[in-house]
Amino acid sequence: MIEVKNLTKKFKETVAVDNINFEVKSGEVFGCLGHNGAGKTTTIRLILGLLQPTEGKALVWGKPLSQHPDLRCKVGVLLENDGLYENLTGVQNLNYYASLYDVTSKEEQITGLLDFTGLANRCNDKVGTYSRGMRRKLGLARAILHKPSVLLLDEPSAGLDPEVQKMVRDLILNLAKEYNMLIFLNSHDLDEVERICSRVVILQRGKVVACDSLVNLRRQSSEPAVEITLAAGQPPQKAVDVLSTLDRVNRIVPDGNRVTVTFEKHAAPDPLPALIGAGIKVEEVKKLRRSLEDVYLEIIHREEKQ
Ligand SMILES: Nc1ncnc2c1ncn2[C@@H]1O[C@H](COP(=O)(O)OP(=O)(O)OP(=O)(O)O)[C@@H](O)[C@H]1O
Ligand SMILES: [Mg+2]
Repeated sequence: MIEVKNLTKKFKETVAVDNINFEVKSGEVFGCLGHNGAGKTTTIRLILGLLQPTEGKALVWGKPLSQHPDLRCKVGVLLENDGLYENLTGVQNLNYYASLYDVTSKEEQITGLLDFTGLANRCNDKVGTYSRGMRRKLGLARAILHKPSVLLLDEPSAGLDPEVQKMVRDLILNLAKEYNMLIFLNSHDLDEVERICSRVVILQRGKVVACDSLVNLRRQSSEPAVEITLAAGQPPQKAVDVLSTLDRVNRIVPDGNRVTVTFEKHAAPDPLPALIGAGIKVEEVKKLRRSLEDVYLEIIHREEKQ
């Protein structure tokens, strides 16, 4: 498990990570989100012990990895660069790491991972000739070669095509489930995070601005919205006029025979009685599920205003 306690990292004047706290448990897929420069990569490097904290601690199984190389062997990592040797072939790279980490049934593991990542037919080419996506895939194979218990991934699917992105997502979920692996990933891809992470931390200028399960973040987020589909032939403008008389309405957006109504924070939308009362026929009223992107932007903007 990972514990980050009052962790701060300063680079001269820049406070990259500013007194952050969170914990991640085995089997969790935990996402770290934030704009460029928010402190995500620095946090991973601190957890790995590649950087020393200015203050506070980053512990894995209760210990700082910088002082425990034995524990470091049970951690897999994929940073922004893929940690590969350009002059070695794909298979040589994996062989090298397998020896470094004393991987058992090395040949079998390597063949399996090369097949899985679709790199088998290029495995004897030098990595220097690989595309960005191919390097990323090999980097990921390298990171999980020794079946780590904790996996730290910095933007795992950056530069990958949609098919491979899906493959990576499925792999991550599978590793967490089958091996109870703790997976910590930095990502800008909110759609990906929404699909695979159960909890997230959101960093902004080095500070934690939210840390919760996706379910809770959605629940706490404001502005509930509904999408109303009018029955055929119903005039949208009349519906808009009626809806604008409702309490606590923030925005009304008509689009063909659909009208989306956004309400104020914590309002309990119930537009149907007013519409029926005005003689408007409605086909469907659907509560809109807010995406992680909506929630993320709301949190970031709220913090920016403060
Ligand atoms: N080695 C370093 N020396 C000086 N400043 C650094 C160093 N590493 C990071 N920083 C600064 O720390 C801040 C956080 O950087 P970090 O790389 O952690 O952000 P990030 O959230 O990973 O961003 P991105 O989404 O762009 O990858 C930035 O202002 C960055 O310039
Ligand atoms: Mg980064």
